[in-house]
Amino acid sequence: MTNIEKKEKPWGGRFGEPTDRQVEAFTSSLHFDRRLFRYDIEGSVAHARMLGRQGIITKGEARTIVAGLRKVFADIEAGVFQFRPDDEDIHMAIEKALTERIGDVGGKLHAGRSRNDQIALDIRLYLRAEIGRVLEFIAELKAGFLALAKKECGAIMPGYTHLQKAQPVLLSHYLLAFWEMLARDEARFRDCLKRVNVMPLGAAALAGTGLPIDRTCVARLLHFPAVSQNSMDTVSDRDFVAEFIFAASLAMMHLSRFCEDLILWSTDEFGYAEIADAFTTGSSMMPQKKNPDVAELIRGKTGRVYGNLVSLLTILKGLPMTYNRDLQEDKEPLFDTVDTLQASLQVLAAMIGRLSFNRKKMEKGAEGGFSTATDVAEYLVMKGLPFREAHGIVGKAVAYCIRNNKTLTGLTLKEFRKFYPGFEKDLFACLTVRQSVNARKITGGTAEEMIQKRIAELEGR
Ligand code: ARG
Repeated sequence: MTNIEKKEKPWGGRFGEPTDRQVEAFTSSLHFDRRLFRYDIEGSVAHARMLGRQGIITKGEARTIVAGLRKVFADIEAGVFQFRPDDEDIHMAIEKALTERIGDVGGKLHAGRSRNDQIALDIRLYLRAEIGRVLEFIAELKAGFLALAKKECGAIMPGYTHLQKAQPVLLSHYLLAFWEMLARDEARFRDCLKRVNVMPLGAAALAGTGLPIDRTCVARLLHFPAVSQNSMDTVSDRDFVAEFIFAASLAMMHLSRFCEDLILWSTDEFGYAEIADAFTTGSSMMPQKKNPDVAELIRGKTGRVYGNLVSLLTILKGLPMTYNRDLQEDKEPLFDTVDTLQASLQVLAAMIGRLSFNRKKMEKGAEGGFSTATDVAEYLVMKGLPFREAHGIVGKAVAYCIRNNKTLTGLTLKEFRKFYPGFEKDLFACLTVRQSVNARKITGGTAEEMIQKRIAELEGR
């Protein structure tokens, strides 16, 4: 051997010259896949144990390998492990360190395995753990929305469509809408977890292995409920990563919608909500400013997560079977998505605990814009009028109010009767915003009675 390179690369046997430095730097994934180290080692420990049980290596060799892996793990955790830039990826860095510590027997670990099934295993172990954390953070945020809905129960706000005042609703009704979105996100992540939780090791490079390995044993050791059924699919499948990023995209979209409302509501023009000082930032120039940067960043980061989804889908598109190095590009979008989603969920959960609402201003806002006009139309429906006709009558009454600078609550029965003689005194039981809210007593409606029932139901879970 004329050069060290040739000795160092595990695949160096058939090569006549060392890898170009540029190629080494370009192909290396170590700077990002090192975050998989614990899963890589966990997987290797299970693989080594299985090799020992199956007699592919001796039980003693398996013990030596497992002890060596534990030593490598401890060094990395302690921060004393030397990651070398010429190691191609985390798998090679760990295998090389293992052999340095325990000698040639370290070379027996990779029997019946390829980095192609190894990386699939690492990502699955990693994602399984991270989905667990995502589910925890979603549960905390849901609890935050529920607590806020309980605290603010009774507060009335204008409900909007087209960002135009539409109908009065309870603030708690609005807040519980986000509970529903988060519950669907939770279900999506749980469902995704089923497809993540499949053991890929044994697929080897693409065709499986001729060695008498026991895949069920590895699955049991690593707590996988199932093993993958087609080795070619196994080494090229990243569906579960795409699914995760899609579920994360929807979750981020939900957060961004709440943040957008919060940003609007914090303006002087709306003045419905105030974010605590600790969760806002100032301006370097304008001394009076208090900005909702956290909410804006969550809104902005949503775009980043969408970008990660498009990146991954584009990487996967048209890949020839089976493993291709393109797949190494799955990790940065995945890691970035996990980090962004988890950080956003956590900071939002903390922030909503520090929100206050200006109930007076919200209720006053709800009273504007003839927001109970639909209630008047529905009153006429109950008097037997076709809804279309009722709609026209109330539309004329609203136009009259606009011309004469009046509100619906300000009209007398006499004035109402100009538009339809059948209006009676009981009309005045449906004109205020609170009457309007409390009339909506159906499942999913905004009546205080219904919201309280829903809060109790959700608290009971
Ligand atoms: N770093 C690679 C990845 O992330 C590991 C698998 C490499 N396999 C190979 N044949 N080069 O996908």
